[in-house]
Amino acid sequence: MASPLTTPLCSLLGIRHPILQSGMRGIAMADLVAAVSRAGGLGILAGLDLDPEELRRQIGQVRTLTDQPFGVNLWLHEAMQPPLDPQLIPQPTLDAAQTMLNRFRAQLGIPLQQARPPRAADLLAAQLEVIIEERVPVFSVGLGNPGTERVARCHAAGIRVIAMAATVADARVLEASGVDAIVAQGSEAGGHRSTWVKPDSPQSAAVGTLTLVPEVVDAVNVPVIAAGGIADGRGLLAALALGAQGILLGTRFVATRESLAREFFKQAILAGDSDATRVTDVFTGIYARGIVNAFVREYEASGAPVLPPMLQRVAAQDVYDHAAKSGDAEHSPMLAGQSLGLIHDLPSAEDVVRSLVSSAEQLRDRLFR
Ligand SMILES: Cc1cc2nc3c(=O)[nH]c(=O)nc-3n(C[C@H](O)[C@H](O)[C@H](O)COP(=O)(O)O)c2cc1C
Repeated sequence: MASPLTTPLCSLLGIRHPILQSGMRGIAMADLVAAVSRAGGLGILAGLDLDPEELRRQIGQVRTLTDQPFGVNLWLHEAMQPPLDPQLIPQPTLDAAQTMLNRFRAQLGIPLQQARPPRAADLLAAQLEVIIEERVPVFSVGLGNPGTERVARCHAAGIRVIAMAATVADARVLEASGVDAIVAQGSEAGGHRSTWVKPDSPQSAAVGTLTLVPEVVDAVNVPVIAAGGIADGRGLLAALALGAQGILLGTRFVATRESLAREFFKQAILAGDSDATRVTDVFTGIYARGIVNAFVREYEASGAPVLPPMLQRVAAQDVYDHAAKSGDAEHSPMLAGQSLGLIHDLPSAEDVVRSLVSSAEQLRDRLFR
């Protein structure tokens, strides 16, 4: 029997398999996280938008379901520290964006709006306190640099810190902040592009996984985790061949039984080919890869302005809520990556981890016999 696929990252994080499930807002809650951690990977709870009490409750829930290590993910985007002030939106920009959103509201039969979106609650400091007080095993950072001070506080509490970069320059900055491992996010990845300020175009910070991972591996001295476009054992083995010590998957775990994604979203992943997605800022005001639907097509074609980071999401939330409730895939933000072309089933999260490991091991044994 050949040796199992383990790397030094596994001992660093206390996991059996080098497989991480990404924090995903509204999707990766306690059941999914605990299932991945029980299977020997690292489940990561999505902390974004959870008020501190709910975050503590979810952490407690994970702990009732497993005694294995897990993580909590937060975004540290500059536009969230603190959340942007809606008063900064110029009136003509607001009017033009609301006029576009009103076209969707009229189609869906919901009340039209012209008002400024409200300012989002500033939860970050309190969320971080919960993570430290609860001594969560791993703090996972998306869209931001935790900085040396926050990393040192986590380390003092025995917490490992991993953070995600989409460019080699940002990976170097994260290493200088003292993080324990870096997720290299290729442009195939589903969800938001992991930069801490909004780049000038969706083509910026958009390097593919095959190039970015070895480039980051060569540039830093901490373990690198590959993210973007990986959904099966072939991707796992390829990532290890590129020098990564582990993989982080989002889209594959959206389409699992424990994921809280709506059924129509899971079905859209099963139905889509790898070219069904694109990077757009119309969903939230930050560039993100998602499935192209009527909302994306019509918003982009209109030429209407997109509101600043996260204010776009707050302004469009009534459209998204209505679409989610009525099972309307055409007006829902369905963040997903190019790997949806490789996903054809809705297994349990445990089966995903098991099959990633076994197929990668079989492939390795066949290739390197
Ligand atoms: C639906 C969805 C939601 C996501 N939400 C988050 C999030 O809240 N925080 C985060 O750091 N990354 C988030 N991501 C991005 C992942 O961290 C990761 O970069 C990506 O999923 C990897 O590529 P893949 O989707 O091809 O597996 C999300 C991804 C998806 C698909």
